[in-house]
Amino acid sequence: MTDLTRRYAKACDLADFRDRRLLGVLRDILPERDPVTHVERKVWEFAQLAMSFEDLGLLDHRSRVLGVGAGDERILFWLTNRVGEVAATDIYGSGDFASREAGGSMLTDPSAHAPFAYREDRLEVRWMDARRLEFPDASFDAVYSLSSLEHFGGPGQVDLAAREIARVLRPGGVALLCADVLLRRHPLNAAPVDLAARAVSLGTKRRTAGLRRRSVVAEALTPRELLRHVIEPSGLELMQPLDLSVSPETWDNVCRLYPDGRQEPATGSFFPHLLVQVDRSVLTSVCVPLRRGT
Ligand SMILES: C[S@@+](CC[C@H](N)C(=O)[O-])C[C@H]1O[C@@H](n2cnc3c(N)ncnc32)[C@H](O)[C@@H]1O
Repeated sequence: MTDLTRRYAKACDLADFRDRRLLGVLRDILPERDPVTHVERKVWEFAQLAMSFEDLGLLDHRSRVLGVGAGDERILFWLTNRVGEVAATDIYGSGDFASREAGGSMLTDPSAHAPFAYREDRLEVRWMDARRLEFPDASFDAVYSLSSLEHFGGPGQVDLAAREIARVLRPGGVALLCADVLLRRHPLNAAPVDLAARAVSLGTKRRTAGLRRRSVVAEALTPRELLRHVIEPSGLELMQPLDLSVSPETWDNVCRLYPDGRQEPATGSFFPHLLVQVDRSVLTSVCVPLRRGT
């Protein structure tokens, strides 16, 4: 296996979208969009995955790749054209995303979700809870998860998924995990605050709050949670030091997301869409490349 040629262990940044290789990869994955103007963190996650797999020699017709919480993301279909086998797993047809990314029809008719022609014989779609992966130990060369870990049920639950991801990786295999990380967490966006609000409202407000679980901004990990509940329990080795710094220009267009789904970008322009403010805190995507020791 070869080495990484660039920094992948980082937060999403506007400067990344000036990189010719990243723009080229995005043109390949999303040919219908101009990556120079369509600057958003979801496509950045695709590019991180595609470039790191290329660096590591994983875009090879012998590779077995597992997507965890994969939904119907287009990178699944893109990968089938470049690797030997792709297993897509999610709780398809159940949970909060059943009518969105994780529709039950992915189990019966994945081709209806494909944005372009793909190698149907190389894609296996299975209903599977990330916390209990039904694959033998060491069965994949690479595992990836995009924008999903933070939805697995809170810190205690994501630990289980992190262990499972490590278990199914072969020695020397790689896990590429992208998740929503809080770059700024306001002190009021904390589990004890939400729990107190729940108690005071006799359980009518912030219903999902727990001792260790925020109710507001629940679906993003703090850097500490990322370390404690993903990286450490996985037992995998972080392939590069994690850089969570973000350039000042990236901060220029923080997009405020309201509970009713309304979005209000600071500049009035939707793109670049990289930082999101939820309540008083700000999140973006982070990419974490991990390797299983040999
Ligand atoms: C924000 S969506 C992201 C989907 C996809 N990775 C993408 O980027 O389009 C989060 C995904 O996590 C999945 N998910 C939530 N809990 C899960 C669990 N326990 N096991 C597996 N997947 C889960 C959801 O069904 C959903 O597809």
